[in-house]
Amino acid sequence: MGDIPSREAAIHMTTGRRMPVTLVRGEGTRVWDDDGNSYLDFIAGIASDTLGHADPGLAEVIATQARTLIHVSNVFYTVPQIELGELLIKHSALDRVFFANSGAEANEGAIKLARKWGIQNRDGAYEIISTHNGFHGRTLTTVAATGTPAYREPFGPPTPGFVFVDYDDVAALKAATTARTAAVMLEPVQGEGGVNVPDPDYLMHVRAWCDEQGILLILDEIQTGMGRSGTLWAYEQAGIEPDIMTSAKGLAGGVPIGAVLAKEHASVFQPGDHGSTFGGNPLATAAGHHVLTRLLEGGVLENAKARGEQLRQRLAGLEDRHSLATGERGIGLLRGLELGADVAGDVVTGARERGLLVNPVRPSVVRFMPPLTVTEAEIDEAVDIVESVLDELESR
Ligand SMILES: Cc1ncc(COP(=O)(O)O)c(C=O)c1O
Repeated sequence: MGDIPSREAAIHMTTGRRMPVTLVRGEGTRVWDDDGNSYLDFIAGIASDTLGHADPGLAEVIATQARTLIHVSNVFYTVPQIELGELLIKHSALDRVFFANSGAEANEGAIKLARKWGIQNRDGAYEIISTHNGFHGRTLTTVAATGTPAYREPFGPPTPGFVFVDYDDVAALKAATTARTAAVMLEPVQGEGGVNVPDPDYLMHVRAWCDEQGILLILDEIQTGMGRSGTLWAYEQAGIEPDIMTSAKGLAGGVPIGAVLAKEHASVFQPGDHGSTFGGNPLATAAGHHVLTRLLEGGVLENAKARGEQLRQRLAGLEDRHSLATGERGIGLLRGLELGADVAGDVVTGARERGLLVNPVRPSVVRFMPPLTVTEAEIDEAVDIVESVLDELESR
């Protein structure tokens, strides 16, 4: 295979820094590099590998679908697309679905939908209030909705119509709402922004404010959804329902997919308003149908909940023995370890050298999001590795 990093450096556009590892195969929670080293994968394709790597059931569904029908135009009906759509609607609070190929694309669809709704129903209103440190994708409009200025500043004037407020601050949201507001858009727990968990009542208050003002609530469940939070959707734990929700990442267990879901009253797209060549194609939706079925038939969601609690306890326990471990936060199997100094990069490197893949989401926060099928022994092994890295860093 030669030296992959140099081959890539010669031809690729560099858009981000890669870890110095070339992964060649996986099984369950484990992946192997091209030198034969194995790692516990607590990044899981950024919360996408719901059932772990090389799941035999998912592999079989993909292979069978590939032998049957990979792709046809959305000018035709296909069976896998309607089957996944029906399952999503049955097992969410939403009434209608549009399929896309990624999280950013699902959010683009949600933003278009909310703007059209506002223009039609709120006297031309098209502004969307989103949150600082939120993350909604890398297309021009989703970076305009993303609360990290560095992601949009190099690219000229951003799509207008976005207003930012602090996350977990209902008063700020109220102050920012005007006659121009069409919707509020946020994550139930901010993932990329640092695994930021809001007050338990935050979403309820946001929902109540949106109802009082007659504006839509868009929940981006791209990272928190599909069982990652310990329930199928994170909004269930807040006791509310969104008007629009987006899903992607874990929805098809690693096969690219995205979905915009909406309540009937917010579902204002008409023929010609939106579309996608690949969105909802038979391969991706057959995979999504299999993954969602596995979550619904029992076992995987329960495991995510139990292993999430185990991970929470083990990470919290590090505080007793390590001055560098200053707290843990998160939901289900989306968790962050807070460090007392900006050493997240050192922890990530040390963990990798010892066979654990994790990533930093802030200079002082390391994120853990293994497949939902992770075992009890694997959680213990991962935290033991982190503990040995902290020992070394603290002895310097
Ligand atoms: C909450 C959230 N929304 C949107 C996205 C964008 O998804 P994608 O990378 O599939 O475009 C991400 C990706 O990390 C995300 O975490």
